[in-house]
Amino acid sequence: QKRIGILTSGGDCAGLNAAIRGAVCRAVGSYGWKVLGIRQATMGLMNSPPDFIPLDIDKVDELLIMGGTFLGTTNTGDPFAFPMPDGTTRDRSSEIIAGYHQLGLDALIVIGGDGSMDIVRKIAQKGGMNLVAIPKTIDNDVGSTERSIGFDTAVNIATESLDRLHFTAASHNRVMILEVMGRDAGHIAISAGIAGGANIILIPEIPYSLESICEKIRERQESGKNYSLVIVSEAVKAENGETIKNINRLGQTRYGGIGQYLADKICACSGAETRVTVLGHIQRGGTPSPLDRLTGSVFGVAAIDLIAEGKYDCMVSWQNRQVVSVPIPEAIGKYSTVDPNGMLVKTARGLGICLGD
Ligand code: F6P
Repeated sequence: QKRIGILTSGGDCAGLNAAIRGAVCRAVGSYGWKVLGIRQATMGLMNSPPDFIPLDIDKVDELLIMGGTFLGTTNTGDPFAFPMPDGTTRDRSSEIIAGYHQLGLDALIVIGGDGSMDIVRKIAQKGGMNLVAIPKTIDNDVGSTERSIGFDTAVNIATESLDRLHFTAASHNRVMILEVMGRDAGHIAISAGIAGGANIILIPEIPYSLESICEKIRERQESGKNYSLVIVSEAVKAENGETIKNINRLGQTRYGGIGQYLADKICACSGAETRVTVLGHIQRGGTPSPLDRLTGSVFGVAAIDLIAEGKYDCMVSWQNRQVVSVPIPEAIGKYSTVDPNGMLVKTARGLGICLGD
């Protein structure tokens, strides 16, 4: 009988609980194994004694439609340079390894994005831990998989936001700018922009000029459409190439502010009245879409089957309508951004959407 640990790491997103549920149902229901839910990402293993919850089918039964992660997570504190209360940092990777062995785990499932997978893999390699990864991220930037948990819900929320902005924009003759997340990839913006009927989509993969944006707005004004919808990905830079970001009091750098920058510039160059909506963490919270519940369930079950086959150091991946496994280094080595010559960009151009170039 195997003992499996499962944890969520990095920023939360919708569909994580569906993956935990899928893994527990398969492990307990089909194989009769024990599953331990590790709290607060690897921090649960760092603690002595480790912080975990024994999971059974009854405990996870209600989780399918719940947003966030009921195990808790964190996207701060690299275990190799963990911030200590006295302001110093310490390598705490050995404590995580000790926690894994103390719990008598045969394998650990990490549900995370590329950053978490990379870190947990390094720890696993150092400490003889058997690792299986499940890709999650609203940014959809994990390589070697066509789906990641959380992306679909984020696109739904951004699309619904555009739907709502549409009518208030038209009522007031305004240019509405919706700033969405995505880190260095424009996947959310291009998908929601097409689905939500944006007139202008700005993504970090395609450099823009303010002149092209304002020309599109003027063109619409001349044709009697006195409003426009702009969706912009958070990592889009200022026209002079400067990154717009904030550094919080913990020293973390986060994108944010390109929406307001564009609003001021567009107002100045087109004369249009502009308003900005920064969608922020609303994209991550809330009820998972059916597709994210499905993806989470498929990945959770598949991760357990990989362990049953003794296949470690692998990530479950959605490819060509199948769930397959890929080596973790392959997935993290292929950061996925929007292909400027790919299907979605071609579609946007075909629809007459301005991409700013
Ligand atoms: O990677 C997910 C993500 O939501 C990014 O899109 C965003 O840039 C970042 O995390 C925000 O991080 P935090 O939750 O620390 O504000």
